[in-house]
Amino acid sequence: MNTFAIDRLHAREILDSRGRPTVWAECRLASGARGAASVPSGASTGRAEACELRDGEPSRYRGLGCRRAVANVNTVLHDGVRGRTFATQAEFDGVLQLLDGTPNLGRLGANAVLAASLAFARAVAAQRGVPLYRHFADLAGLPLRTLPRLTVNLFSGGKHAGEQAALQDVLLAPVAVQNTDEGLAAVVAVYQCAADLILRKYGQRLLRADEGGLAPDFPNAEAMLADAVEAIAAAGYKVGTGMALAVDVASSHFQRDGLYHLGGKPLTSAGMIDQIADWVRRYPLVSVEDGLAEEDWANWPALRTRLAGHSLTLGDDFLCTQPERIRRAIAAGAANALLLKVNQVGTLTGAAQAAALAREAGWKVVVSARSGETEDDWLADLAVGWGADFIKVGSITQSERLAKYNRLLAIEAETALPLAG
Ligand code: PGA
Ligand code: ZN
Repeated sequence: MNTFAIDRLHAREILDSRGRPTVWAECRLASGARGAASVPSGASTGRAEACELRDGEPSRYRGLGCRRAVANVNTVLHDGVRGRTFATQAEFDGVLQLLDGTPNLGRLGANAVLAASLAFARAVAAQRGVPLYRHFADLAGLPLRTLPRLTVNLFSGGKHAGEQAALQDVLLAPVAVQNTDEGLAAVVAVYQCAADLILRKYGQRLLRADEGGLAPDFPNAEAMLADAVEAIAAAGYKVGTGMALAVDVASSHFQRDGLYHLGGKPLTSAGMIDQIADWVRRYPLVSVEDGLAEEDWANWPALRTRLAGHSLTLGDDFLCTQPERIRRAIAAGAANALLLKVNQVGTLTGAAQAAALAREAGWKVVVSARSGETEDDWLADLAVGWGADFIKVGSITQSERLAKYNRLLAIEAETALPLAG
């Protein structure tokens, strides 16, 4: 059996796509193999997420510094694993978790722990002499069968933009294409038509939100959907069968006192479900993410039932990539798709467990980036290795997003795997 002896764990503070600090770490093995990785960070976060450690020094990066998390990698984590030999990722992650000692990784920081977990995976792939996507597939015990389908941010609202409209993302889903290469070309064509439309309609040049989505002064959520359909048609694609849509409602962020403040009259949970069902009837939505708030457990099953056969009921903040929440949602019939963000749970092993639960329940898996990203591209390898049905990386205009798309193109060229579904 292959084993992996740790020589050194080492971290640094770097900046993410919002100019906020995050953690980069490198793992060196005794064999001389090494791997490095950077962790992303969210803005529209769920309450059950693993806990990022931030310095809280107001005079430096408004308190968002990661020097303490970095120091934790360089001391506690390094000291805890140096000279030890591991046979598996699960064993390595188990030790990281023990060294932290809290359920949400709040002591050393989920950002510190995940940087170490990912760096170890890259170093092991290097020692094994296999591409990272193959290593991820082996970790999950899965064959390499398909590449994820794209869902690409077109319009942004909510917390990723100026909250001008409550809907967080309207995404393009190139459902008719045969490969990633065609998918990207189609998405870029629609994005360009959408940019023209925004200039004409709102008199605004390309004002981009955190993930590169267009973010003009939409009067309301409905306008975001209607404008997306108009842009698809303007680009010459058949609305629905040629190019479909997905939405991230991110509704936890506009629910207060049990009511949804989508704009106009506040909606009850039942009213919110009616609103979403109406959108799904009138727009080609293949997936609805966080249609209800993260603690609105009682109403998620009704949402799933209403959308069944038309659109996926996808849980992001609702599930937070946490195995216990996913188990509970499966038992309740509360969703049928998992948005998987590794830093919501803090280790590759936790994320693998989450993905396995979803797959066993027959759910779809959407591997997702965060709104604060880095130029690291491990997410593309993860989505391929774990056989994700979809990948959600943001828009096509910023290099922290393109790093992942370009990596997918490289994997596609190398493997010639077909798209999922
Ligand atoms: P994030 O949100 O800002 O937490 O990364 C992305 C999403 O809601 O999908
Ligand atoms: Zn989301």
